[in-house]
Amino acid sequence: MKIVFATHNQHKLKEVQSLLPTSIKLLSLTDIGCTEEILETATTLQGNAKIKADYIRKAYGYDCFADDTGLEVAILYGEPGVYSARYAGANADSEANMNKLLSKLKGKNNRQAQFKTIIVLNLQDSQYVFEGVCKGEILHKKNGKQGFGYDPIFKPEGYDVSFAQMPMEEKGTISHRGKAVAELVKFFEELPRK
Ligand code: IMP
Repeated sequence: MKIVFATHNQHKLKEVQSLLPTSIKLLSLTDIGCTEEILETATTLQGNAKIKADYIRKAYGYDCFADDTGLEVAILYGEPGVYSARYAGANADSEANMNKLLSKLKGKNNRQAQFKTIIVLNLQDSQYVFEGVCKGEILHKKNGKQGFGYDPIFKPEGYDVSFAQMPMEEKGTISHRGKAVAELVKFFEELPRK
């Protein structure tokens, strides 16, 4: 079975492909010749993942899944959430986004936060949703050099180091994305029995 993962990120594609049963072959947006930008205009993670998965289904006819991730900070009522990639502005980089979050939390003791990933899958005529959550807290300063995004300031629950101080494989076993993908993999493994 061929299915599109709505991403141009070859790293993400390889990582997810390696977890799926060999009967499922993933195609990226590049593989199907999709070069147009799919605007993520929804106000929820699920809404944005659905926009991407539905666009590919409609425009290209493929079964498809898409993901969207956000960092939700409790004391900020879930900010930056769906706006995590552009928290400090449309062209903001990770440094600017982290600096904005650190300044908003300056002097605050409640640092509770969680990463959430939503995957929306369009398979034949049905739509399925998978979720992965990683709870933790926002540190007072950046720590570590690995990973991307908010990794240097996010410390997962039960650990003494930030995501950016963890080997990638270890992060994958506890991360929001890792958990959402594990749900997707379980779904595909059980598919012949459904
Ligand atoms: P995306 O939906 O995977 O593109 O994620 C949206 C934004 O959330 C990214 O641009 C990052 O800022 C942030 N983000 C997503 N996943 C992670 C992660 O694992 N670590 C740190 N930041 C992340």
